[in-house]
Amino acid sequence: MTRDTPRNADGEDPSDVATDETAADTAAGADDVALDPWGSSAVADYRKLFDEFGIEPFDEVLPEVPAPHHLMRRGVIFGHRDYRPVARALREGEDAAVLSGFMPTGDPHIGHKLVFDEIIWHQERGADAYGLIADLEAHSARGLSWDEIDDHARDYLLSLLALGFDPEAGELYRQSTNREVQDLAFELGSKARLAEFEGIYGFDGETSVSHMQSVVTQMADILYPQLGEPKPTVIPVGPDQDPHMRLARDVAARTRYFKVTEAYASFAADPGERDHLAAAHAALEDDSDDPVRCEDAADWLEADPTADADRDAAIEKLRAAGKEPLRPRVRFLDRNATDEAFDALVEAVSGEKRRYDEHVDAFEMGPDEAEELAREVELDHGGYGFRAPSSIYHRFMTGLTGGKMSSSVPASHISLLDDPEDGYDKVKAATTGGRETAEKQRELGGEADDCPVYELYAYLLAGDDDEFATEVYEECVGGERLCGGCKEQAAELMREFLEEHQENRAEMEAVLDGLDIDLDSDRRGVTGDDH
Ligand code: TRP
Ligand code: SF4
Repeated sequence: MTRDTPRNADGEDPSDVATDETAADTAAGADDVALDPWGSSAVADYRKLFDEFGIEPFDEVLPEVPAPHHLMRRGVIFGHRDYRPVARALREGEDAAVLSGFMPTGDPHIGHKLVFDEIIWHQERGADAYGLIADLEAHSARGLSWDEIDDHARDYLLSLLALGFDPEAGELYRQSTNREVQDLAFELGSKARLAEFEGIYGFDGETSVSHMQSVVTQMADILYPQLGEPKPTVIPVGPDQDPHMRLARDVAARTRYFKVTEAYASFAADPGERDHLAAAHAALEDDSDDPVRCEDAADWLEADPTADADRDAAIEKLRAAGKEPLRPRVRFLDRNATDEAFDALVEAVSGEKRRYDEHVDAFEMGPDEAEELAREVELDHGGYGFRAPSSIYHRFMTGLTGGKMSSSVPASHISLLDDPEDGYDKVKAATTGGRETAEKQRELGGEADDCPVYELYAYLLAGDDDEFATEVYEECVGGERLCGGCKEQAAELMREFLEEHQENRAEMEAVLDGLDIDLDSDRRGVTGDDH
């Protein structure tokens, strides 16, 4: 399997690509972890997301990231899907892109700032950067009016600009006015089925068609950076958006003209069977010119003590193939190619090749080269050639009052528009991980790991200064730091941050007005609670 192929899109026939089971479990709320893009997603145990949903721990790619962001270093960005190609592109100065989207349902707050910072960080490292306003989603899934959406959209964009997004190098757009996104959404919709929306999102007969349209629109957002040219693209989001990522990766694979796999004989074998074929081939291959025959490989596998169902299936296929030589090759399977594209591919395959009805085998090409060729031919013949989009996931911030940080509970979060004095007051009033008395705190130390105030330092207030963040942590758990003074310091830093941010926002008003983005949509609309 190649790096580009999502693990759950292994079916050779595009019509039977399986929706992975974990995606379907989402709606059912597997155990106590539920990832619901429109629900309340509190995650009790982030480790479960690795086992249950196949999100990978970020630690494992961290060493591959050049000068990682403090959110990466501090474990706030805890997980990823397929981030390696993006890390490599950043390292090697190759093309990459970053995109995320915001539903303009309220004020942007310090939780959104994480994502703004992630976009900007990738942009500063050379990635094409995109920030979008998910207005169609806000209208259809949340029932916001166009006037409300316009106001909030302006606030999100101002904050993104104020934090350092470069609109000359990057692109800001709203879903509703981006014609290319709409066209792409329509196209991608032909590779998504209602039954899988039911499985992944819990949609049913009562779900509005516009809400479904907002899902294919998000798929289009995610792939939009690749319209000019396919490139590694990262989507920074909270883990609640992971169902969208899984679907986007599946849908991207389904649009491909060809699927490139490795094979050993004319018959099809799945990855488990292929491992046995590879082992038999490696064991039996010698320097002579005599080919390894399928039936000999079957004999060899019969004697293999590590028997499993894959081995038995492989043996059966090898027996049926009899005297056919067993030879490693790459196989291009036709998924969506036109006849001309298939002919062109066969023509372009270098070295020895064999053409079948639905596939062509190449005996002298490596898988990477084959993958590249498949993409080139696809692009030449009107296809998109998408690479599977990658994602990174950040932890949700704890609310200042404990529990979830929620846009609908003002005291639980700090809005980027809050008066700096209110920001100060909210921090001063925050719940802490402190002990009941100062004496106990000195004796036992505070619980920084369970303290919303410590989170403020780690996520935001300490900025890039790891030493400062570590100092707060160690002083806290060592009992040298008491909550009163600690909160005072955090509150002052928060006030300063808000003052500065809001000055920057004011300066960005003119910049925003100079951009080609319509914030007075003047649209008629129908909202209600039938979304
Ligand atoms: N669904 C996202 C949210 O609820 C918003 C969104 C729309 C988005 N399109 C996107 C996020 C593309 C990431 C990438 O916040
Ligand atoms: Fe939290 Fe600071 Fe108190 Fe430690 S000292 S528990 S970090 S408020």
